[in-house]
Amino acid sequence: MNFNVTLLPGDGVGPEVIDSAVAVLHAVERRFGHDFHMHPMPIGGNAIDVTGVPLPPETLTACNKSDAVLLGAVGGPKWNDLKAHMRPEKGLLSLRAGMKLFANLRPAVLYDELIPTSPLRPDLAKKGVDIMIVRELTGGIYFGDRGYRDGALGQEAYDTEVYSINEVERIAKIAFELAMTRKKRITSVDKSNVLETSRLWRATVDRVAKGYPEVKVEHMLVDNCAMQLVKNPSQFDLILTSNMFGDILSDEAAAITGSIGMLPSSSLGAGNIGLYEPIHGSAPDIAGKDEVNPIATILAAAMMLSTSLKLVKEATAVDYAVKKALAKGLRTKDIANGKKHVTCSRMTEEIVINILNS
Ligand code: IPM
Ligand code: MN
Repeated sequence: MNFNVTLLPGDGVGPEVIDSAVAVLHAVERRFGHDFHMHPMPIGGNAIDVTGVPLPPETLTACNKSDAVLLGAVGGPKWNDLKAHMRPEKGLLSLRAGMKLFANLRPAVLYDELIPTSPLRPDLAKKGVDIMIVRELTGGIYFGDRGYRDGALGQEAYDTEVYSINEVERIAKIAFELAMTRKKRITSVDKSNVLETSRLWRATVDRVAKGYPEVKVEHMLVDNCAMQLVKNPSQFDLILTSNMFGDILSDEAAAITGSIGMLPSSSLGAGNIGLYEPIHGSAPDIAGKDEVNPIATILAAAMMLSTSLKLVKEATAVDYAVKKALAKGLRTKDIANGKKHVTCSRMTEEIVINILNS
């Protein structure tokens, strides 16, 4: 089949991980007889350099016209001093908002092969980690009113968290539908002992839950959840939470799976077009060194295959190719525990071969 995929390599290690994912997608084309038309467009710092803005309108238009979007990473020290609305990160936030992608799914899975790399105590790691984090992506403090003003103690800055019932309902429904395909358990994470938005969140989740009597819902405060993730992560199956809490908890969940270089994510809205990206950032310190772990982006491409392109057996082949490369002992630097490691291109090559031989 024919598909249009917009590629957004971005900054730092972004172009390298996108190159890896493209190699993998070419292997899928050859192995399964598809045709992926992949067009790169600028976003983030490189877009600022070339066009003056972090999300050029042509990029957003191309994304909204394609079947799916694959993004590397944005940001870097070169653009750190720019005003908020001109930062590379603003490009990504405007893209999420512009594509109306309110649901962000971040699966944190600890592979058996990476148990020695996980900072968890071996007895805890052996119990397994397989958590789906469902993060609200276009609301909350990321998008509320912000600015500077004169306060009682002089100049002050402020950000505001806002959630409507509608925003919580639609993300909760995504989580409940997903829970029905998993262990039918949801941990909804908030800070309802302090925040009004969290109290609305909790009440709304409870109301949506009435439509899913088979799903067991537990509410947990975010500080406790941060602790439980390192003390006893196997208690979690699906975590439903707000934009800001999801950002923080997903990095923590990534770390316990061995490396942030392993975690993909998909961002979805009402339609079929999704945005797929690794959860790691642009890692400027290792950019251009062929050292980055390409697996998060390759797994993001697999999520794209199964979710937006409905190519489920192809996605399974990619997932399996990654597992096989790990089982063979190949490790990029971030997951090598200081032992022998391979380059990003070598890891990619192995995964490509596994797909072609699948
Ligand atoms: C992420 C990133 C982004 C976020 C940044 C780059 C804006 O940290 O995808 O987790 O905070 O959402
Ligand atoms: Mn983040």
